[in-house]
Amino acid sequence: MNGHNSRQMRVLHVSPEFAPFSKVGGLADVVGSLPPALRSQGVDCRVYTPAWKGVLDYVRDKGYPLTRLSRKAEMVFRWNILRGTVWKSCSEGVPVYFLDLPSLFGTETIYPRNLTPDTVLPFLFLSLSALDLPEASRWRPDIFHCHDWGTAPLSAALAWHHHYRYQSERYRTVFTIHNLAHQGLLPLDSLREWGLADDAGRIDSMEFFSYGNLLKGALLASSAITTVSPTYAREIQTRGGGEGLGGVLSALGPKVTGILNGLDVNYWNPAADPLLPARYSREDMAGKALCRKELFSRAGWEEDNHPLFVSVGRMAEQKGFSLLLPALEEISQKNWRIFFLGTGEPEYEKGLEEAARRWPGSVHSVIGYDEPLAHLAYAGGDFFLMPSRFEPCGLSQLIALRYGTVPVVRSTGGLADTVRPFPEEGGNGITFSVYTPEALLSAMDEAAGLFTEQKAEYTELQKKGMGQDFSWDASAPLYKELYVSILRKGN
Ligand code: ADP
Ligand code: GLC
Repeated sequence: MNGHNSRQMRVLHVSPEFAPFSKVGGLADVVGSLPPALRSQGVDCRVYTPAWKGVLDYVRDKGYPLTRLSRKAEMVFRWNILRGTVWKSCSEGVPVYFLDLPSLFGTETIYPRNLTPDTVLPFLFLSLSALDLPEASRWRPDIFHCHDWGTAPLSAALAWHHHYRYQSERYRTVFTIHNLAHQGLLPLDSLREWGLADDAGRIDSMEFFSYGNLLKGALLASSAITTVSPTYAREIQTRGGGEGLGGVLSALGPKVTGILNGLDVNYWNPAADPLLPARYSREDMAGKALCRKELFSRAGWEEDNHPLFVSVGRMAEQKGFSLLLPALEEISQKNWRIFFLGTGEPEYEKGLEEAARRWPGSVHSVIGYDEPLAHLAYAGGDFFLMPSRFEPCGLSQLIALRYGTVPVVRSTGGLADTVRPFPEEGGNGITFSVYTPEALLSAMDEAAGLFTEQKAEYTELQKKGMGQDFSWDASAPLYKELYVSILRKGN
């Protein structure tokens, strides 16, 4: 298509999050690390993302280049013209375009608590203005690669928008599902406000139980759909795992692929991590003991030889907090310790703070987003807990493995693809299947037994994880192949 064979393929990644500039969870890490990996595979990848509050200051402080495109990004909405500035920068060799409009992107948090026709506006503007970027930047992508519901309006616009549908022949789109639980539901009528034709509201387009479903629109309209692990790709095509879209996804099955996430292994590297009090490697683990000591002291605990479990992540139902909270009382009766870092649902934050007050000798909880403390927790723990109800991929368990902190996980989605149970061949962690506090506690018991009674096996397990390759080397070529195949097909 368009003679791309004779030149590099061009792909614009459009994403609401982009590490290290803005981050809520693993999506940011993926968009921060996949494009550089693809560039080293010869794909001309660029990123289009909002300049959320503080992002441009960070860019300037860190000395990244910054120039302004002469043309503004514009969108008409309810008889108003929104006009944003597009800044061009470069991160890890990847050209980046930041969309800047403080009235939309000046918020403290990226995602609104309630999605409404007003709060969707930042995501709508990001998605639609991406389609005008080729003109403004004089760089025309072959493919728009969109990430999660916030960028779903882009593919939907190419299918149903009064203005943009005329460009649909020009571009291919890839849509990556990082989390099917968030779909972007809006009153059906509101779709008309942003220029979608009435046929967007039909059952075979964006209609979903009388709502407009942004994600469903993108799934139907995109040239290809990917998700972030092979097991999750299977799970979401079922009634149980499809969050209401299982039928749609299974009907679209031939265009759904599961590609396992990689990690930025230079950033997540215990041998060179500047945020740790001491560095270490598979060959010399002494530094890990110092990190453990430091983590104990942060929690106000006396260090001993009983196991220390850590949990870093969003405190959301997805992550298994409805199993963890009821398990804490029993945990407090053992000689185990459990260190939590995260933010999320007020119900879980409160529950953990209460547990920490009740059982200060075994439960410690830090509510907040704290990058250095996250590094210390990954390095200082003996086990990493991730009892997720569902998990599209999960990067935390990969980071934990790399830092020699043995994962204890529920076998679902990407956790099933990356953590194999000990002592099975290739085992690198401890797993359980049934979603109950009892099953979690029995996996933790197994972990504790291993740690206190089978030190040699425990150390072997640590080293196995630390020796695995979690880089993009295996997965970036799969994205490249997918790009080639959709351009070749020309659909
Ligand atoms: P998800 O994207 O579902 O939140 P992932 O495991 O894919 O889960 O990625 C989570 C990422 O966010 C990891 O890099 C993790 O270290 C980071 N993270 C989550 N919560 C915090 C926090 N409170 N402080 C620092 N980093 C965090
Ligand atoms: C999502 C998922 C997580 C995944 C991340 C990056 O937030 O919850 O499992 O690792 O996206 O793809």
